Amino acid sequence: MKIIAGNWKMNKTKEDAKAFFEEYKALVKQTDNKVIVCAPFTVVKTVAKQKKKNDINVIAGAQNVHPAKNGAFTGEISVDMLKSMDCGAVIIGHSERRTMFLETDEFINEKVKATIDAGMIAIFCIGETLEEREHNQTFEVLMTQINKGLNGVTNSENLYVAYEPVWAIGTGKVATTEQIQETHAFIKELVTKQFGVDVPVLYGGSANEQNCSEIFAIQGVDGALIGGASLVASKFAAMANYQA
Ligand code: 13P
Repeated sequence: MKIIAGNWKMNKTKEDAKAFFEEYKALVKQTDNKVIVCAPFTVVKTVAKQKKKNDINVIAGAQNVHPAKNGAFTGEISVDMLKSMDCGAVIIGHSERRTMFLETDEFINEKVKATIDAGMIAIFCIGETLEEREHNQTFEVLMTQINKGLNGVTNSENLYVAYEPVWAIGTGKVATTEQIQETHAFIKELVTKQFGVDVPVLYGGSANEQNCSEIFAIQGVDGALIGGASLVASKFAAMANYQA
């Protein structure tokens, strides 16, 4: 069983999302993989309806959430609002939000807690920049992101970690087998120490229908968080259909 999570980022209108699932429905097979589509807020409900409407096994996810219950946070969205759209998962701490929207480890930590407390899956993203890798800081960076981002989190039942090396996102440059294996092993060791149980770790960064078999075969890889390839129904279906 693998976790196949799409991150649509700021792509797809409601019409686009419906067209995507029309095509996807004809291609996807029944497997034991867990498929999640993290869509823009405006189409989370459209994704959530696919189970009933098209008999597609997909969990609707979002790409951000605010940790507060409600209040004066213009432009933000709460866990209750997401849940009322049948949202079951949230991407938290994506590198695009860390860099472009200046999200700190502390703020990300609050979001992880709020999401897990609400019973939704938190897809907690971490990863080093190219500069950090070149300065041999990868493990230090990952450890800090984990220690701060998961500080005080006690329930790992709905927690997934996504390892997304920043230099591999949207670049076509995939981390090597060795790099993926050693980082996933490191991440698993840290989270297992904190929670006492295994936590799924997904790889993200230029994963697609052509390289996914190789990535999924690496020890410690429980699935993938997919950007570009998740926008194309045939590519995403090919990944969702993965069988060892
Ligand atoms: P790409 O698959 O387009 O590299 O994006 C990865 C990503 O950022 C998923 O969250």
